[in-house]
Amino acid sequence: MKKKILDKKNINLSRRGFVSGAALSAAGLAALPATAQAESVAMCPAGGMVAWKQPDNNNGLIVQQEQGPSNIQTVGTVGLDYFGHCAFRLTSPRGVTIMFDPWRNDPSGYWGVWYPKDFPKTKVDIGLSTHAHFDHDALDKIEATMLLDRMVGEFEFADVKITGIADKHACSAPGWYKWTDAIKEFGQSPCPPNNPHHMDMSMYLIETGGLRIVMWGDNRHNPSKEALKLLGKVDVLTLPVDGSQHILSYDQGDSIVRQLNPNVVIPTHYLCEGVSITLTTLQTADEWVNNQKSKMLLKSSGIQLNLAEVKKMNNEFMYFGANTAT
Ligand SMILES: [Fe+2]
Ligand SMILES: [Fe+2]
Repeated sequence: MKKKILDKKNINLSRRGFVSGAALSAAGLAALPATAQAESVAMCPAGGMVAWKQPDNNNGLIVQQEQGPSNIQTVGTVGLDYFGHCAFRLTSPRGVTIMFDPWRNDPSGYWGVWYPKDFPKTKVDIGLSTHAHFDHDALDKIEATMLLDRMVGEFEFADVKITGIADKHACSAPGWYKWTDAIKEFGQSPCPPNNPHHMDMSMYLIETGGLRIVMWGDNRHNPSKEALKLLGKVDVLTLPVDGSQHILSYDQGDSIVRQLNPNVVIPTHYLCEGVSITLTTLQTADEWVNNQKSKMLLKSSGIQLNLAEVKKMNNEFMYFGANTAT
C-alpha cells in the first residue's frame, strides 16, 4: 500500500485531478411464511409511505429544476461517501445527492441482527434501492425528496443520468454459507426463470461529471448479454465481494473486473466494523483487496472523483475498509 491515499483529507493537496481526497442471509425476506411477511409490513412500511412525516422539502430540487439540464459529459468532481455495506451517497458536480441501498435489519427477525445501529437519517434528493432485500431497501430510513425503488429504464435530472438495468440476483452461494438453501426450504427457486421477486435486481449505471459509475448491488456474476451491453464502458465499479464469498466469489469478482475493465473498483457487501456484525456471516474484503495488483486503503469515508485522474487508473481497488459516514 505504498500508493498515496487520496481521500477528503487530501483534497487540497491534489485538487487538480482525482481529487482525492446467525442469522440467515438477507436473501430471504420475501421467502418468509405469509404471517412473517405480514408482520414485516406492519412493522416497517415501504419507504414512500413515511415521507409525509419528513420535515424537509423539495426546495433544492426546484433550484436544480430552474437551472435546467446540464450535459452529463461535462467534466466535474463527483463525490462518493460510503455508508457501509452497499450504501453510497453520490453527489454530482452540481450538487444533486443520491443515496443507494440504505440498509436495515430484517423487521421480522427471521434473518437476525446485521446492524446494531439504525441507518443514519440522511437528507438526499433521490433514494434508490437495487432490490427488495433488507440490507439494501431501507428507503424509509433516509429523507429523500424522490424515491426510485428498483428502477428500470432511464432517469435524467440536472446533471445526472441513471440507467436501471434489470437482471438477476446471485442465486448460487459460492462460499461456505449456503444461504440460497434457505430460499429452497421455503419452497422457492432462487434462480431464474422462476425466481421470486426478491431475487430480481436493478443494477444502476450513473452518468455524471463525465464518469460512468456502476452500483452492482447483489447482481449475479454473469449478467445477461443485454445487461452487459447497457453497462457499456465502466469507469468506477462497485462489487459485492467479501472474505466469506457470500454473494460473489473471488474468482467471479476478478472475472467481472477483467471483463468490464473499470478504472476503479470499490468492494462492497463486507463485514464493516461499526456498521455490521458477525451475525451477518460476512468477512472483511481485506484478503480480496490484498491480492490485487493496485490498491488504495482509503483513510476516510469519502472520495472525490475526477475523470482525468480516474482515467489514469487501471483496475485500481479503492477500499473504504471500516471508514463509513455512519
Ligand atoms: Fe440481496
Ligand atoms: Fe445483500
